Amino acid sequence: MKNYNIAVIGGDGTGPEVVREAVKVLDAAAAKFDLKFNYTNYDVGGDRYLRTGEVLPDSVLSELRRFPAILLGAIGHPEVKPGILEKGILLRTRFELEQYINLRPVKLYDARFCPLKDKKPEDIDFVVVRENNEGLYTGAGGIVFKGTPNEVALQESVNTRRGVERCLRFAFEFSRKRAKGKKLMLCGKTNVLTYAFDLWERAFHEIGQNDYADIKREYAHVDATSMWFVKNPEWFDVIVTDNIFGDIITDLGAMIQGGMGIAAGGNINPSGTSMFEPIGGSAPKYSGKGVINPLAAICAGQMMLDFLGETAAAKAIEAAVMKVVREKIQSLSAGKMGCTTSQVGDLVAEAVG
Ligand code: IPM
Ligand code: MN
Repeated sequence: MKNYNIAVIGGDGTGPEVVREAVKVLDAAAAKFDLKFNYTNYDVGGDRYLRTGEVLPDSVLSELRRFPAILLGAIGHPEVKPGILEKGILLRTRFELEQYINLRPVKLYDARFCPLKDKKPEDIDFVVVRENNEGLYTGAGGIVFKGTPNEVALQESVNTRRGVERCLRFAFEFSRKRAKGKKLMLCGKTNVLTYAFDLWERAFHEIGQNDYADIKREYAHVDATSMWFVKNPEWFDVIVTDNIFGDIITDLGAMIQGGMGIAAGGNINPSGTSMFEPIGGSAPKYSGKGVINPLAAICAGQMMLDFLGETAAAKAIEAAVMKVVREKIQSLSAGKMGCTTSQVGDLVAEAVG
């Protein structure tokens, strides 16, 4: 039997509720595939901050480093000023644990849940590889003459050759392994951001030409990419992009796959601790009601298994989610599913078994 130590951060709002269902499904997969998960819960989030003033204690961060994976519910609390928890917990973990990839699959499980006309599951099945440690997210910049008519705010996009290259290499490897269209599209803005995306574009073609001749390279501006997500999502296979563009286009991606109720992502350090999360927020207005959709968290658990190399167990969860989405669920939105949060977890766990 294979054993895995998993750190669990339920976090804020509905985070703990959806994580509970993800754990239920992981345990069902463990029973079937002869695995064992040992969970360690960490109390991190808005409540702890309001109670103790601590955001992410250094001791917690150093403990997290000892796990191969973290399962995260959500971070964000209505009584805490925006930025404190997001930067102090989510971004700090992504940066300090060098989770330099944010992997976000966009996959439609059932045509009923797609807001686009006449699009079927085979039309919406692509993956965004978002750079997760650089770009506009590093905090480089500053504000001077604050609060005066002369104030100036600068927020700089950081693009290092090393950071860009490791992201591109991950994306090329991923395209190769995925073996769908063997197409990798760089999404950028070379017509305006002529420094940052000059580096990205040169590195993209150099690496592609030298080491990944089997992968077809394409380029699209981020604005056009957004348009095509809506118009022709079937064109995409794997997309690689910087941190902020990846943030924005993956919310759009989540919508075309059926909404935040089903969208999951992985913050990946290929040789360290990775963190898997539903990409929607903490949705505090739904907390404690048993109406939030846990499928995104369950899919995050599935991505975690895949990352751990438990491919068969991951596939079983995906198949179970697909079955439940197609046969049992009325809507992917909170409160409209036709079942409670824990019933959805039960249904998927049962389908896995
Ligand atoms: C996401 C979120 C975060 C981001 C926020 C909460 C900092 O929107 O995971 O996409 O911008 O990366
Ligand atoms: Mn986002």
